[in-house]
Amino acid sequence: MKKLKMVTTVLLVSLSLILSACGTSKTGGDGGKKTLRVVTDAAYAPFEYQDKGEVVGFDIDFVKAVAKEAGYPVKVEHVGWDPVFIEIEGKTADIGVSSITITPKRIQTYDFTVPYFLSKNEILVPKGSPIKSAKDLEGKKIAVQNGTTGQEAVEKLFGENNDKLKKFDNNNLAILELKKGGVDAVVADNTVIETYVKNNPKDDFVFIEDDGTFEKEFYGLLLPKGSKLKAELDKAVNKLLDNGTYEKLYEKWFKIKPDIKILKEQQ
Ligand code: ARG
Repeated sequence: MKKLKMVTTVLLVSLSLILSACGTSKTGGDGGKKTLRVVTDAAYAPFEYQDKGEVVGFDIDFVKAVAKEAGYPVKVEHVGWDPVFIEIEGKTADIGVSSITITPKRIQTYDFTVPYFLSKNEILVPKGSPIKSAKDLEGKKIAVQNGTTGQEAVEKLFGENNDKLKKFDNNNLAILELKKGGVDAVVADNTVIETYVKNNPKDDFVFIEDDGTFEKEFYGLLLPKGSKLKAELDKAVNKLLDNGTYEKLYEKWFKIKPDIKILKEQQ
């Protein structure tokens, strides 16, 4: 009897050793969870941009904090705007983070986490421009990033096949076109526009808000349809919204306090 007990104990101990070895070899020792592939379009400061070859920004800090809270290691890669959607649809990446607005059209193809940021479109023009509101954009040449809600907003105002609308692969190229005088305005997310104006005083650009025209938008982390991560990530986002981590990150990047209530109301 004693012998049998010992054999069982030895067997159990070795089994658990084998199991724990399996766990660490697969995950690199992070509590049994796989490394998540996170893709982004790092040309949208201050949310995601490249600094000395590194992808940084509010979104990047945020997605890392969310993954950490959920117990996952992450690897963030800049792939470009269209590829973010292609990779998530094709499930070659786990999370897309790119100031991505949750829209009725996108939720047909993708899942999103609960909202983490309030945004709206805004207009960027040279100082002294006659454009003072969205309505003044009529008949003017406008640059947007292709496939964004900025493009949607302009098309909603002036029609889908508007030949005055110039679409670019990333938002920096749209702004460059304004600098060159190839267009009269850029339409993009307010925080990005305002950060550009502040960081590039020599360009002499100003931003135009138009709350009557541009609707409230909410960013979410983009996930493949049916992603098993959604529940875990939603829980992690809510934890960060509740425990002060989100507020800290927000203040680090934007120097003001976030409106957490409005985010929660969307859930
Ligand atoms: N919020 C807008 C959208 O979802 C623009 C996002 C652009 N993001 C970027 N990283 N280029 O369409």
